[in-house]
Amino acid sequence: MPSLSKEHFDLYSAFHVPETHAWSSSHLHDHPIAGDGATIPVIDISDPDAASMVGGACRSWGVFYATSHGIPADLLHQVESHARRLFSLPLHRKLQTAPRDGSLSGYGRPPISAFFPKLMWSEGFTLAGHDDHLAVTSQLSPFDSLSFWKEMKKLAGRLFRLLIISLGLDEEEMGQVGPLKELSQAADAIQLNSYPTCPEPERAIGMAAHTDSAFLTVLHQTDGAGGLQVLRDQDESESARWVDVLPRPDCLVVNVGDLLHILSNGRFKSVRHRAVVNRADHRISAAYFIGPPAHMKVGSITKLVDMRTGPMYRPVTWPEYLGIRTRLFDKALDSVKFQEKN
Ligand code: SIN
Ligand code: FE2
Repeated sequence: MPSLSKEHFDLYSAFHVPETHAWSSSHLHDHPIAGDGATIPVIDISDPDAASMVGGACRSWGVFYATSHGIPADLLHQVESHARRLFSLPLHRKLQTAPRDGSLSGYGRPPISAFFPKLMWSEGFTLAGHDDHLAVTSQLSPFDSLSFWKEMKKLAGRLFRLLIISLGLDEEEMGQVGPLKELSQAADAIQLNSYPTCPEPERAIGMAAHTDSAFLTVLHQTDGAGGLQVLRDQDESESARWVDVLPRPDCLVVNVGDLLHILSNGRFKSVRHRAVVNRADHRISAAYFIGPPAHMKVGSITKLVDMRTGPMYRPVTWPEYLGIRTRLFDKALDSVKFQEKN
C-alpha cells in the first residue's frame, strides 16, 4: 500500500496551506480575472438551431453550458452523494484503491500533478473503464454507475451529432469521423473531483491550468461557490483573461479537448481551464471524458483542410498523444502541429 507521506497531507482538516501546496502568485495570477461567466453561451441542445449554436460556441469559446441535456437531476444527485461518500472515507481506505498494475483507475492526486512542483488542493477518483469503476468504488460506496455512464455516453452522441452538422459534413464524410458516428467504439472515462474548503484560497489552486486531451469533456459541478474558470482569448496573451464558469441550475458544462481541436483542423478550440478553491464550500465535480478508441489515428477531417496548406496537425492516437503530453504537457498540441507553409 502506498505510504501516507506528507504528500498525503489531510486537506480536509487543514488550518493553513503548507509550503507543499502554496503556489506562487505569479502562477496563480498569470492573467486577470474577467468577472462572472454570464457571457459563456448557454445552449438548449434540443433547440432546432442547437447545431449552429454549439458549433459557434466551440469555435469562439471552446466551452458552453448545455441545458435539456437529458441527464436526470436525480442521477446527478446520486453521483454527487456517491462522490461525497467516497471522499469522506479515511485516507488509508481511499489509498487502497490507488492505481496499480498499469491501471489508470483509482484514487489519487489529479492526473496532471506530475507536471507541477506544487500540489493541488484536490483529490480524485479516476474511473477509466466500467469494470474498473465497479472494482474500484463499489467496495467503498454502493452506486449504480452503469446508468450514469450510459446516459453520459448518450449525451456525448447527441453533442457529436450537433458538431458534425455544424461542420457541414455529410453521411460519407462522417464515416471518417469513426467514433463520432459509431459511439460504441469510443473510449470514455469518469473523473470524480473533490475540492475541500481551503483556509487560504489565494495561495492554493484546486486544479492547475490545462487543456483536456479527449474530444469532449462534460462536467457536472455542485451548486455553490463554483471554481471552474476558462481562459478567454487564450491565443492573445495581452487580452487573455480567466472567466468564471459558475454553477447554473440544470446545466452541464461541455468543453472541447485537444483531439477534437485536431480533428476539426483547429476550428474548435481546446480551451485552457483551471479550478480555484474557496473558504466556505466543499466543491465536488464529476467529469465525463470521451475520446477515440485506442487504435484510431485522429487527424484533421479532409473536408476541413485547406488543400493548399494541408492539415494543421499530424494524426495521432489518443495513447500516443497522452505519451506526448507526458513529456511536453501543455506544449503537446503545438508539437503535433505542422510548421506553417508560406
Ligand atoms: C478538470 O478540469 O479536470 C476539473 C475541473 C473542475 O472540477 O471544475
Ligand atoms: Fe480539465
